[in-house]
Amino acid sequence: MTWPVGTGPDALRDALARLEPDAAARPGDVRMVRAPGRVNLIGEHTDYNDGFVLPAAIDLEIRIAYLPADDGRVELALADTGERQGFAIDAVGSRRGAWIDYVAGTAWAMREAGAPVRGFRGVLASSLPAGAGLSSSAALELAAAWALAGDRPPALPKMALARTAQRAENEYVGVMCGLMDQFAATFGEPGAAMLLDCRSLDHRAVPLPTEEVALVVCHSGSPRRLEASEYNERRASCAAAVATIAAFEPEVRALRDVTPGMLAAVGDHLDPTTRRRVEHVVTENGRVGDVVAALDAGDLAAVGRLFAESHASLRDGYEVSSPELDLLVEIATGTPGVVGARLTGAGFGGCTINLVRRDAVPALRAAVERDYPARTGLSPRVLEVEAAAGAGLAP
Ligand code: GLA
Repeated sequence: MTWPVGTGPDALRDALARLEPDAAARPGDVRMVRAPGRVNLIGEHTDYNDGFVLPAAIDLEIRIAYLPADDGRVELALADTGERQGFAIDAVGSRRGAWIDYVAGTAWAMREAGAPVRGFRGVLASSLPAGAGLSSSAALELAAAWALAGDRPPALPKMALARTAQRAENEYVGVMCGLMDQFAATFGEPGAAMLLDCRSLDHRAVPLPTEEVALVVCHSGSPRRLEASEYNERRASCAAAVATIAAFEPEVRALRDVTPGMLAAVGDHLDPTTRRRVEHVVTENGRVGDVVAALDAGDLAAVGRLFAESHASLRDGYEVSSPELDLLVEIATGTPGVVGARLTGAGFGGCTINLVRRDAVPALRAAVERDYPARTGLSPRVLEVEAAAGAGLAP
């Protein structure tokens, strides 16, 4: 993991000591927590349809060094710019449209959930690119949850903690995300992806063949366009489809319940765009189970085929890809040793996730750095990441 200059874990403690005389005087009371970003291997736009997802937490992360405080205030500074924001934990007020909203929203949601919350003085650093579709928001919520818990772990079971962070984002920040990102940032395990059934909340680790293949993120360097409004439009379209289908199939409560057979029978009652959206969700849910089975069987060729089907379905059916993401997938697919490539996260820009034979990573990097800028005028970033543990105390 590479930290931006001057923001590594040691620099973070030093920065806190410079800002807070109390932290300099009581270095033994300074704590450091971390929370990871995530990639999603498969199961895109399925979480808010009660379906299945297979994300992995990654070793790009947010860290907060902090000193718990009993004056009821949170004051947090960014290590790279020095910008400082704060709030009172019993009067968080309404959102400001700034990064502190994720911290204030988490404080609000933890109190709503009955978990004790303390103030702190802290400094935050991140090795996770923001706005790249790698869930820096969920990482900030989970790091905040740990810091707000003071000198002990958050007083909520892990799934309740993940849902509390999701509630902060849905109800305070105002983004209607599903549970996947907060789940991954909470439950991640080194060397594994995490399978979640978003209805029952059953979950398990799915070991990755990490000796053979690397996880490589390719960042398109293109801003995510219209993301919030388009995301909400997709959610609304799924909800409308459920209402139409349930008129014929009353047991359907979410698109998770729709089988390919049902879709064939009632699909004519959906407008063509909605039908394509539903087809994506129904087939994508099936692909999650198929990828898990292929990983369990060591069948990487099958994983690659399923990644390709997922990307095509997101591009043509759910319509959340972009020319830049399609090009990154095309370059990766033409590189020997790349097992699979697809967009990851919400789409509309952001990143692709690639499973790459370890000895082929330099070739993928070279191909992306040569062909992508020439065809887009944009600067890509190729990041080799490892599956990592969920949020907690930093080592
Ligand atoms: C974003 C959301 C997630 C999920 C993905 C799409 O990352 O935060 O809840 O819906 O998009 O799979």
